[in-house]
Amino acid sequence: METVVSGIRSTGQLHLGNYFGALRNFIKMQDENQCYFFIADLHALTTHPDPKMLHTNVKDVLTEYLAAGMDPEKSAIYIQSDIHEIPELYLLMNMHAYMGELAKTTSFKEKARKQPNNVNAGLLTYPTLMAVDIIIHKANKVPVGKDQEQHLEMTRTFARRFNNFYGVEYFPEPTAYNFGENLIKIPGLDGSGKMGKSEGNCIYLSDDPKTIEKKVKKALTDQGPTAPNSVKPDYIENLFTILKVVSTPDVVDYYEEKWNTCEIRYGDLKKQLAADIIKVTTPIRERILAIQGDDAYLHKVATEGAEKARESAAKTLKEVREIMGFKAF
Ligand code: TYM
Repeated sequence: METVVSGIRSTGQLHLGNYFGALRNFIKMQDENQCYFFIADLHALTTHPDPKMLHTNVKDVLTEYLAAGMDPEKSAIYIQSDIHEIPELYLLMNMHAYMGELAKTTSFKEKARKQPNNVNAGLLTYPTLMAVDIIIHKANKVPVGKDQEQHLEMTRTFARRFNNFYGVEYFPEPTAYNFGENLIKIPGLDGSGKMGKSEGNCIYLSDDPKTIEKKVKKALTDQGPTAPNSVKPDYIENLFTILKVVSTPDVVDYYEEKWNTCEIRYGDLKKQLAADIIKVTTPIRERILAIQGDDAYLHKVATEGAEKARESAAKTLKEVREIMGFKAF
């Protein structure tokens, strides 16, 4: 049995990228492992969300976690900010995180470019907080999408550095995990790189079928291939990438063949893609609608999840404080 940790920032509703990159994998892991799944509301603070929205966003993500199949009987499902041991360990770990390595992180450079008037220290030390989320439960596996690979590399560096500095074998070095496969990146339908909230190109788990059909219909395409077996341009490859996660292999093979023989009809491909996305999202959307507003249930899940997470976090923090030399008088 492994210890698994993962989280999603509470910056809005969850999209297909979150689902296939992370959420689906968390859910598949919860039967066999000790799992901790949280909502990263402290990480969400880097963009200064409206305080009125903060709690609503957390509630939405919790609802979607449960609707997608997270089971509070099996896993600890909690809100990051409920676990006060996390910010304390973050302070301690920041003493061993260096300005140079933090400043050259891809996500920091990107954010600094996107929000030049808000390059705050929380943004710089984002990887320390993320590492703490993971090592506070001494996790070994972290189901995440491809964009988190560098953060996981840094988590291993921080864990190893702590062990070496204090001469202990305390923290395991956790790895980003996708069942032995490569980590996934779900692209946007607009021909751009990844599907993301700030890119505004998302299909949300809560989108209704009509909305999904409309979004897929609008996806960027062209006149079609002009020579057999040609290389697909990125915006077409993107459609195939999504098809591969939502459809069966025979459907994918069928459209690959049509592409290779220049017989592909994008209208058909898009209809198929929309139908298969709807197949994945409909049961989740129905459960979102059923759970939404059940504040008593959400409260129960978050309270019990926090209790479980706090138990493991408190144990780690106590041991780390001892290793670092803190002693009670
Ligand atoms: P966040 O909130 O940006 O995304 C949550 C998860 O969804 C994955 N993801 C994607 N995967 C594939 N294709 C996409 N287009 C796509 N968009 C998002 C992300 O890889 C991620 O797994 N720093 C993290 C949150 C976090 C965390 C942690 C994760 C904080 N502490 C500890 C794991 C462990 C983040 O911003 O993810």
